[in-house]
Amino acid sequence: MRLMRFTGRTRWGAASAGLLAAFLLMLGGTASAGIADTKHNLGSGPGPAGRNQAGDTAEICVFCHTPHGGDTAAPVPLWNKRLGVAGAPAGGGTYITYDTLQTPSLDGTVAPVGSISMACLSCHDGTQAMDNVINAPGSGGVVADGGGADGRTWTWTGPTANAAGRLASGAALLGTDLSNDHPIGIQYCGGGLAGTGTTVSGTCADTDFVQPLTQVINGNQIFWVETGGTGKQRTDLPLYQRAAGGLGPLVECASCHDPHVSTGQAGPTGTGRTAGETFLRISNASSAVCTACHVK
Ligand code: HEC
Ligand code: HEC
Ligand code: HEC
Ligand code: HEC
Repeated sequence: MRLMRFTGRTRWGAASAGLLAAFLLMLGGTASAGIADTKHNLGSGPGPAGRNQAGDTAEICVFCHTPHGGDTAAPVPLWNKRLGVAGAPAGGGTYITYDTLQTPSLDGTVAPVGSISMACLSCHDGTQAMDNVINAPGSGGVVADGGGADGRTWTWTGPTANAAGRLASGAALLGTDLSNDHPIGIQYCGGGLAGTGTTVSGTCADTDFVQPLTQVINGNQIFWVETGGTGKQRTDLPLYQRAAGGLGPLVECASCHDPHVSTGQAGPTGTGRTAGETFLRISNASSAVCTACHVK
């Protein structure tokens, strides 16, 4: 919106406005418009044309977060949606994981489908309605299971959501067979990593991987793969821990994806993102997402 203010006050033509936009992108993505401009805006308000939308609320965050009454069993901030239990899809069935392909090169241990990936799959596996929300907009409106597999029975329009509000077709419907998707719940670099303070102790069991960084924040040891800048940022690739005693740092959906970004967030070389990138934390130009982790 900063851009609109600038152009409104001056007599610059469209070409200058375009140059300014490019300049702001170079500065590191200050022109980013955020989640409202993405397919993760499921509300009835302004946003990209032709997206899946519920007619019942113009809110955006409510489809994933609530300020109060979030699911404390979910390892996701203030989560507002029913997740599957014990690694099973929320709406029933079972997941098939990547390791069932038995590729001989896979050397990391695979955990049951869980962690942050469960949050993504609570819509992307297609087993429950996207209007399953624990705390619906407005006063009251809390239902512990979010309405179950059929959610709140809101009214849906859009290309890939069916009338019941489930993802029912298209590339974003991953389904419950995850064996054709990049492994998730997978130990990073074949395991062997631990940490104390800011030091990664232990080495990658598999040296085909970039050594991650670590830091203690609020008493939690966190790991991430660095992509530039100082300290842990949204453009770094986070690795996730399970509850105490779990497998070391794991790759999950949100290691590669940030579900909020639209365009304009800087890539590792500061060249900016291009429109249409699929919620990736950094630009995947030259396959930079892949080579951030894989030494290839
Ligand atoms: C489609 C689901 C979805 C929607 C919609 C969504 N979020 Fe999130 N949000 C997530 C997930 C998943 C995470 C955890 C991501 C991670 O591990 O980095 C998260 C994390 C966060 C975090 C903490 C981590 C961070 O990146 O700062 C904040 C703050 C946040 N969301 C705010 C919001 C706000 C505000 C909105 C609405 C404008 C919103 N989110 C909409 C899924 C969503
Ligand atoms: C509240 C439901 C919901 C949740 C939770 C959710 N998504 Fe989505 N996501 C959608 C919908 C709807 C679309 C658009 C599908 C379409 O247009 O066919 C989408 C699209 C996407 C796309 C494709 C974007 C494009 O332009 O092609 C990616 C990537 C994605 N989501 C990743 C994630 C990840 C990763 C998470 C978890 C961190 C997540 N989503 C959580 C509903 C959700
Ligand atoms: C190791 C990195 C990585 C992980 C982990 C990962 N993704 Fe992706 N994902 C990508 C990349 C890269 C793309 C862009 C592919 C392209 O441009 O066609 C993508 C694309 C997508 C798309 C869009 C599909 C399309 O072709 O339009 C969806 C939806 C999606 N991811 C969801 C998820 C979900 C849900 C998870 C967890 C179950 C996940 N991703 C885990 C890297 C990853
Ligand atoms: C956040 C780190 C990370 C990113 C980013 C990442 N990967 Fe991976 N990838 C892994 C881990 C960890 C494994 C499991 C490898 C193992 O245990 O041997 C893996 C496994 C794989 C495998 C299967 C290997 C096997 O032995 O079966 C392929 C293929 C692969 N990745 C390709 C990609 C591609 C292509 C991209 C970019 C779109 C990508 N990866 C991005 C961490 C990552």
